[in-house]
Amino acid sequence: MKVHPSVKILQAQGLGSRKICENFFWNSEIFCNGKRLDPEIDLLKWGDELKIDGQSYVLKERLYILMNKPAGYETSHKPSRHPSIFNLLPSYMLNRGVQAAGRLDVDTTGLLLLSDDGQFIHKVISGKRGEQHQIEKIYRLTADDVIPDLAVQRLLDGVELDDEEELICASRVERLGPREIRLGITTGKYHQVKRMIAATGNRVVQLHRERVGAYTLPQHLKEGLYMEVDPMLF
Ligand code: URA
Repeated sequence: MKVHPSVKILQAQGLGSRKICENFFWNSEIFCNGKRLDPEIDLLKWGDELKIDGQSYVLKERLYILMNKPAGYETSHKPSRHPSIFNLLPSYMLNRGVQAAGRLDVDTTGLLLLSDDGQFIHKVISGKRGEQHQIEKIYRLTADDVIPDLAVQRLLDGVELDDEEELICASRVERLGPREIRLGITTGKYHQVKRMIAATGNRVVQLHRERVGAYTLPQHLKEGLYMEVDPMLF
């Protein structure tokens, strides 16, 4: 049987299986852009604002989500020892196959991007937006010991990390306190920031991501909460 195009849109929005979406479309009270939808006449399209059973949705072809990741959550669909950050999202987003654009460690807090747009995720993870532009990720960190000026210079000049052929450099380092710095990187190696600090003989005790490319963590976004954003990287 041919699937009604509006049912296909509801399914792509993540509202459930085809059967569930057919039931929504034909049998539920749906308000579309403020008007009661007549399934015999009206067709849904991307951008429409829907209200179904009291719940509001904007129909979007792709989702871009900015989360303020709390500590104690794993960036994984199959967490091993802690709850998953995906538990913090509503099921319709998970049904759409939303993935994290890179991982933050379980104890790291701050800005995490998620999407169901594979190209966007790839760009964020690879750190490349074009031939020349790189996507900078900015972290604020507190170390166990005082960070001497020499260590700041070493981070800028590049440090050796196991299994990396080239020296790994910070794109910027700003001192915030004796044990606290703001550090930028344009690559995304495994545990990169912690390993860079370890390479200077110190240890990260607190790590928070403030920025990825053009996205800055908004002050008002509390830990564990998320917001939808537009796709942009610079
Ligand atoms: N670098 C790390 O070491 N941990 C993170 O969570 C992110 C970057």
